[in-house]
Amino acid sequence: MIDEGTITAAAAYVRDLLAGEASGHGVDHALRVCRTAAAIARSEGADVGVCRLAALLHDVDDHKLFPGTSASLAHAVSFLDAQGVEGDERRRVCQAIREVSFSANGMEPPSSLEAACVRDADRLDAIGAIGVGRAFAFGGANGRALWDESGECRDTTVAHFEDKLLLLAEGMSTQTGRFLAAGRGAYLRGFYEEFVAEWRGER
Ligand code: ADP
Ligand code: NI
Repeated sequence: MIDEGTITAAAAYVRDLLAGEASGHGVDHALRVCRTAAAIARSEGADVGVCRLAALLHDVDDHKLFPGTSASLAHAVSFLDAQGVEGDERRRVCQAIREVSFSANGMEPPSSLEAACVRDADRLDAIGAIGVGRAFAFGGANGRALWDESGECRDTTVAHFEDKLLLLAEGMSTQTGRFLAAGRGAYLRGFYEEFVAEWRGER
């Protein structure tokens, strides 16, 4: 069993490692994904401790933030070593971390229920009101334009809605994830439609 002390230590570890992170992967993201993953895990009957720990650690070896450790999961592994998380639990945490990433895993189905819960929770944090906020924070931090009406430039915040975010709600792996994604996905689509209508002066 993964105890509460390990969860608290993981949150502190992530807070230190991701301090100052402005691309949408800060500790606040890890904490939200942890909370959502726990809720999904409870209703799906998954191992809540494995889901919470994997959710907290899911970005500590992200290939964009830490290209040198993403293959080995060196940060996550050193944390698990320090906490004495071993054997089957450790293997399941590491596997769930590997299977979270959208870019790395696309539409491959997760290979365990725990990986499915954490992946759904991570994707849920990219849609709904939080998803809108994170996308514009990312755009601001990276000096991106809001939108290119012609559709040619794909490096804008709202092009990211069209190319990725609006598709995420369809890609949930669990029943609970699908339920949550229905509400958040509808909110995101409504925001997108309002944005385009206002841009065009239709509303
Ligand atoms: P992950 O590594 O979990 O796949 P990303 O690094 O793609 O996540 O995204 C982190 C956050 O930043 C998400 O909320 C995502 O929508 C946002 N984001 C990533 N790329 C862009 C972009 N080009 N424009 C706007 N937001 C982006
Ligand atoms: Ni994430």
